[in-house]
Amino acid sequence: MRDHLGRKIDYMRISITDRCNLRCRYCMPEGVEHVPMAEILTLEEYARIAACGALLGIDKIKVTGGEPLVRLGCCDFIRMLKETKGIRQVTITTNGILLEQYLEELMAAGIDGINISLDTLDPELYQALTGGGNLESVVRALERTVEICRDRQVSLKINAVSLDLRDMADQLGRAYSGSGWRELLKIARDNPVDVRFIEVMPIGYGKRYQSIDHNRLLACLVQAYPDMERDHRVHGNGPAVYYRIPGFQGSVGLISALHGKFCHGCNRVRLTSQGYLKSCLCYEDGVDLKKILRAGGSLKEKDEKLLEAMRQAIWGKPGAHCFEDPEAMTERGNMVRIGG
Ligand code: GTP
Ligand code: 5AD
Ligand code: SF4
Repeated sequence: MRDHLGRKIDYMRISITDRCNLRCRYCMPEGVEHVPMAEILTLEEYARIAACGALLGIDKIKVTGGEPLVRLGCCDFIRMLKETKGIRQVTITTNGILLEQYLEELMAAGIDGINISLDTLDPELYQALTGGGNLESVVRALERTVEICRDRQVSLKINAVSLDLRDMADQLGRAYSGSGWRELLKIARDNPVDVRFIEVMPIGYGKRYQSIDHNRLLACLVQAYPDMERDHRVHGNGPAVYYRIPGFQGSVGLISALHGKFCHGCNRVRLTSQGYLKSCLCYEDGVDLKKILRAGGSLKEKDEKLLEAMRQAIWGKPGAHCFEDPEAMTERGNMVRIGG
């Protein structure tokens, strides 16, 4: 369906857990408390909401977390979504730690795309940034995933937040050139994988960090690759702007929420792990669908209420974020509960 500004809303991000096996400093550092399991929806509850969404024209689902693969039954859930009438595409965004283990299951469930969050290829910096993460397991998973996705119609992308890691390198007593993007881009050079850089948004712990300005990053990219051109092919359903570099198998993507606002083309709503349907990342606006799911009434009555509440949330979706004016933001939650 369309919102009050005429934007077609056909994509829902579903965060199926607020748990994660990493502790990325800008998202979920040590000490963040978990929501009690009873307040997190069951996979069947998310699936009910997704089925209602499909009736409203939401035919694309992104499964997120926390880390979605730490939720038991994640692959069964993906299969459930893929079997739901009206849902055309199901993709996942994962930190990759458990990816190798679940790769076959994800493929068998019919996953359409995999995004791996990987902010640096420097093992020490990776460990420091993620609170102990083992880069090797992600790189190994990436290599396996490239092989498997190559043979099927499954897209594969890397997400790297645009953080200046100089301070972190300083703390480790290390020198740092500031161009970790060069290393990450080698993945796109040598594999059919898109590498996307993401401006850090002032949500939750993200507020503590300053993003690299993507105008600056773009200038560096153009300097390094003067033949780089805009790539207008469709790579996914998200806000990334893509570029092609001659000789590279994958493209470079920039997700520039701060310096390249893309809200006019927004196509999405978000379901938090606790069953709150958020209409925009920046604001609290939305509806508590868990309340409806867990109140009394017949299945039919509940579905009608879910549909009505979802319609209202979608219709009233805010026009644009206000990250440039943090005082005006009403979202106080952490990214780990929202799912990015
Ligand atoms: P695909 O391109 O279809 O894979 O989707 P995607 O890029 O939206 O998904 P992904 O989960 O990989 O998200 C990448 C980054 O984009 C994350 O940091 C998200 O928080 C950010 N992002 C996704 N959607 C929005 C949005 O509507 N607004 C803003 N500001 N950021 C978004
Ligand atoms: N700003 C931008 N991206 C973020 N992510 C987590 N927190 C933030 C933030 N504050 C990213 C993760 C992952 C994706 C789902 O969201 O790195 O790639
Ligand atoms: Fe976990 Fe992703 Fe958050 Fe890192 S960014 S703590 S991997 S949910």
